[in-house]
Amino acid sequence: MNSSLASPSRFPGRGWFLAVLLLAAACRAAGSDASSSAPLVVPEPAGATADAPASATAGSHEIPDPYYQGLGNGGYDVQHYDLVLDVDLESGVIEAVCRITARATQDLARFHLDLYGLDVDQVLVRDEEASFEREGRELIVRPERFLPAGEEFTVAVRYGGVPEPAPDPGVPFVPGVGWFRTPSGVYVVSECSGAASWFPCNDHPLDKATYSIEVTVPKPYTVASNGILVEERDAGDRRTWLWRASDPMSTYLATVCIAEFDVVVEEGPGGIPMRTYLPTDATEEERAVFARTNEILAFFGERFGPYPFESVGAVLSYENLGGALETQTIPVYGRGADESTVAHELAHQWFGDCVGPANWQELWLNEGFASYAEQLWFEHTEGAEAALERGRGMYRMLRAANVGPPADPGLEQLFGASVYVRGPLVLQALRDAVGDETFFAILRAWVDRNHDGHGTTDAFVALCEESTEADLSLFFALLYDADMPVVPSLE
Ligand code: ARG
Ligand code: ZN
Repeated sequence: MNSSLASPSRFPGRGWFLAVLLLAAACRAAGSDASSSAPLVVPEPAGATADAPASATAGSHEIPDPYYQGLGNGGYDVQHYDLVLDVDLESGVIEAVCRITARATQDLARFHLDLYGLDVDQVLVRDEEASFEREGRELIVRPERFLPAGEEFTVAVRYGGVPEPAPDPGVPFVPGVGWFRTPSGVYVVSECSGAASWFPCNDHPLDKATYSIEVTVPKPYTVASNGILVEERDAGDRRTWLWRASDPMSTYLATVCIAEFDVVVEEGPGGIPMRTYLPTDATEEERAVFARTNEILAFFGERFGPYPFESVGAVLSYENLGGALETQTIPVYGRGADESTVAHELAHQWFGDCVGPANWQELWLNEGFASYAEQLWFEHTEGAEAALERGRGMYRMLRAANVGPPADPGLEQLFGASVYVRGPLVLQALRDAVGDETFFAILRAWVDRNHDGHGTTDAFVALCEESTEADLSLFFALLYDADMPVVPSLE
């Protein structure tokens, strides 16, 4: 991590306008034609295996996504990732095994995994040696025998090397996404396409799975990851941490953070484990940013429904990561995060994590909602009048810049003002139209219906329409119109 990563990736309060301009300028300077830089593998006819029926064909090289080509793969559905990593902090080299349990969704003669860089030494399918090849970010596996539709199978990939952050056209303000090796240690921040930088996977948010993540590092480093810390083992001058995430999780929300941390162990909502990882030199002020975590979770719990996961926590990086990421159960924060950022990442546990985006065009369902939750927390702590002023400030800037619709922000502006600033106004307009009671009932129903699954804008609109007779025209205009509409209450 270095200072070139310091550009903002989220835009709380007054900083957003500058951030949007910087982002727009960065995109123009890069002249990025995002779709052409995305990996694309043209499928060839399946290489027939000895016993394969004619129905056994190649799994697709991608899950179709309006904004990304080549992400994820078809023909199977991952149930579980079992990762075992040995990390040498000095050289940056990892030695790893990723054991995947998946279910075939078609008769499969071969299938793809996503993997960026790294060396693959061996692939076993159902414990039998399989042949494989690499093509860009695709790892193409040909099992000895075909995989019948509906059958559960295992794939074990032995791999290693020095992981590098993967370039991502949706996140042009950082050099890459995924595994970051820094002077203080390692931080994994993968949104959107960076999970493939550290393990072979089905790297699309549509395929959620459970995880077990075992990491061995030299002393005195500590490993934080998703879910529950189930075991810590001593191994001489090294130490092993075993984490288990039992709630289904998208690949981009998996993380491993390795540094010399102070760990604060408390209880979260309903007594679930809450672990906060802090730099050993964190100031009182930096620690205080997390002091109201339980209060924030209780506040959101009342409005969005019960906290959705088995654990909660935080990792405060030593580095300025250019923002934060809502890694499931344990968000990773760049140094400099404030309480508003904590509210934002905690809200993502409901919106983004528990209810995932069905594809990357749907990002406002993550960022618009989490940014509106920030506004709710602001309203709660600072009062309705101050919150209205905050909303007016955002509105004025949206109008001045004529910021486009959250329903289709475009890949190069994916993390821009459309979803982060106009997105929350969509929800404000909904709340103004239907009133608090119906509004929060809609949010709870949204989480309830799509729990551990996915949302689409169409499904959210359908839920809103069936929940009210109110006039939703301003809500629709803010969500879809090419031009930023006039909002009379914010004029
Ligand atoms: N979802 C993050 C947030 O809470 C932004 C992540 C941007 N992506 C990245 N690789 N830095 O706003
Ligand atoms: Zn966010």
